[in-house]
Amino acid sequence: MTATLLTIDGLTKSYPTPQGPLRVLDRVDLRLAAGESLALMGESGSGKSTLMHLIAGLDGFDEGTLRLDGIDLSALTDATAARLRRERIGLIFQQFHLVPSLDVAANLALQARLAGRFDGAWCARLIERLGLSGLERRFPEQLSGGQQQRLAIGRALAARPALVLADEPTGNLDEEAADAVLKLLLELIDEHGCALMMITHSPAVAAPLARHYRLRRGQLFDVTHAPALT
Ligand SMILES: Nc1ncnc2c1ncn2[C@@H]1O[C@H](COP(=O)(O)OP(=O)(O)O)[C@@H](O)[C@H]1O
Ligand SMILES: [Mg+2]
Repeated sequence: MTATLLTIDGLTKSYPTPQGPLRVLDRVDLRLAAGESLALMGESGSGKSTLMHLIAGLDGFDEGTLRLDGIDLSALTDATAARLRRERIGLIFQQFHLVPSLDVAANLALQARLAGRFDGAWCARLIERLGLSGLERRFPEQLSGGQQQRLAIGRALAARPALVLADEPTGNLDEEAADAVLKLLLELIDEHGCALMMITHSPAVAAPLARHYRLRRGQLFDVTHAPALT
């Protein structure tokens, strides 16, 4: 039997504030199997980005365990955990976070190269699928918002991750660009067969995803079968 891709148990995270610690995540549990898709919803400030950052290793937590492929990430050295994450997780942010000094081709290949998983044929196919053919030598500032986010999707997929984490990936785009980017993201995730955890405010954006969760007062609720609560 294969191990669950992502296993989160009792994850607890507080931020220090002048009024004392603010507990943003309170004993959060979650399982995600290979290839599964999940929408993470919740009011602004409910801790969605925090949860994504903890999974991605961008911040530390107070208690609990995070396992990737059954491996407890806290039991590894920081360097080993970072390498495992680079190989297995692709990240997409609302603000794109492209490298301004690198052209399209170099931005797309960046994470795959860092992970030692660069595959030129796969990157070329991604450029084509993302509608970026002919734009390889442009820099991010020479692209539209929709093109920048498509490039960020390519970067996230270039190392052939098992899991893509996307934080409101269409939140910075106009409606038309958002629809096109979302469609492309879901198609590529489906073709590649990787798991997706997507943060979104929008029930329409969440609708195509198999599982729906909501963060509220630090706790995570499965609302897949309770659409009124989403
Ligand atoms: N680095 C930080 N230091 C202190 N408080 C933070 C920090 N990051 C987030 N917070 C607070 O934690 C809560 C959850 O934030 P966040 O995870 O960004 O929520 P969401 O993505 O759901 O809008 C908010 O109250 C936010 O102000
Ligand atoms: Mg957020």
